[in-house]
Amino acid sequence: MSEAVEIAPGIYWIGVNDRTTDLFEGIWPIAREGVSYNAYLIRDEKLALIDLAKATKGEDLLRQIDTLADTAALDYVVINHMEPDHTGVLRLVQRLAPRAIFVCSEKAREMLGTFYGITERIRVVHDGETISLGRHELKFFETPFVHWPETMMTWVTPGGVLFSCDGFGGFGALEGAIFDDQHDSLEYYEQEALRYYSNIVARYGRMVLKAIDKLAALPIAVIAPAHGLVWRGHPERIVELYKQWAGYSLGADKPEITLLYATMYGATETMMNAVARGITAVGVPMQIFDVTHTHVSYILPSLYSRKGVVVGAPTYEGHLFPVMASVLAMAEAKHLTGKKAAYFGSFAWSGGGQGTFQKLVEPLKWEILEQLVFPGNPTAEDLKKGEALGADFARAIQKSGLEGKTDG
Ligand code: FEO
Repeated sequence: MSEAVEIAPGIYWIGVNDRTTDLFEGIWPIAREGVSYNAYLIRDEKLALIDLAKATKGEDLLRQIDTLADTAALDYVVINHMEPDHTGVLRLVQRLAPRAIFVCSEKAREMLGTFYGITERIRVVHDGETISLGRHELKFFETPFVHWPETMMTWVTPGGVLFSCDGFGGFGALEGAIFDDQHDSLEYYEQEALRYYSNIVARYGRMVLKAIDKLAALPIAVIAPAHGLVWRGHPERIVELYKQWAGYSLGADKPEITLLYATMYGATETMMNAVARGITAVGVPMQIFDVTHTHVSYILPSLYSRKGVVVGAPTYEGHLFPVMASVLAMAEAKHLTGKKAAYFGSFAWSGGGQGTFQKLVEPLKWEILEQLVFPGNPTAEDLKKGEALGADFARAIQKSGLEGKTDG
């Protein structure tokens, strides 16, 4: 169980760490890393709760509210985002806080009904609208698609705290301290923030940049997201990272390579080593993933942030090896478009993997620069071709980076 932490006078973090859920959204592994659901309480003439927690964490959240206030006395429950990792406790809170008004965006109003049957005591707020709590004032900013269409962020003064919900969030339970300036190294949290971004928010890069633009004039002292660290020391750091990451989806991805491979009996793996040798000889940074043994959650940060993708996978039942096909389907779901790509793979008799690859990347608008298929195990001649494929592809990626620089 967590303990409440005052983040500014009268404003408290009352988040909970979740170290028991294996898969966030039922897809993304967090068994090792955990995740936090950060909620906040503002004590003033009016009592306001900002965001909540997943249903299984109700007791932990309510116990923390109890240490600071009477849940029954809640005046407002601000719902920045309807996804149930933040609203699962809502019906419980509704019962325990009979006079609380649910504050949300217009689009969230309908979801309150469809998710929880809540149709009363709702106050819809629009962009720039304010609610006074006494000394504190809440101001609301619509930030659609960061992460769902109904999403908004809430700004509170005095304190200069931005409750940004999914925006600027990250995976990883909070390890002993909630603030960025309490950790010697932020490497782990930033890495988990990028994994979160690429797994959850990546599809909406343009909307993330719009939200950042909209908030640019706010004198933000603290960024208080609903997942991960509270950014008090350097709130600008996580904004810059999100801006950079959103840019990857708009063509600013790095001139580096993600090499994805799968193998059944080692033939495609042998070729993968030759291709990787070619890439390494040119000196382009590369990350290699065996997709059969690596959950796509850990592949997406690399795939999302790099311009070059090399896919090595054999034919299976006349199509592309299915685990690789599912990775490419996820790339499509996340709109990881506009990459430069290469394909190689082994087949036993008729082939088919290459054709499936071409079909799968068509909607992604990946430009296929190199392709190599071979029957059975690769010969020495095949491996030379593979090494050359790797080197040629790496040079093309290098060149695309230089072109990017020329274009500014
Ligand atoms: Fe953390 Fe989109 O919910």
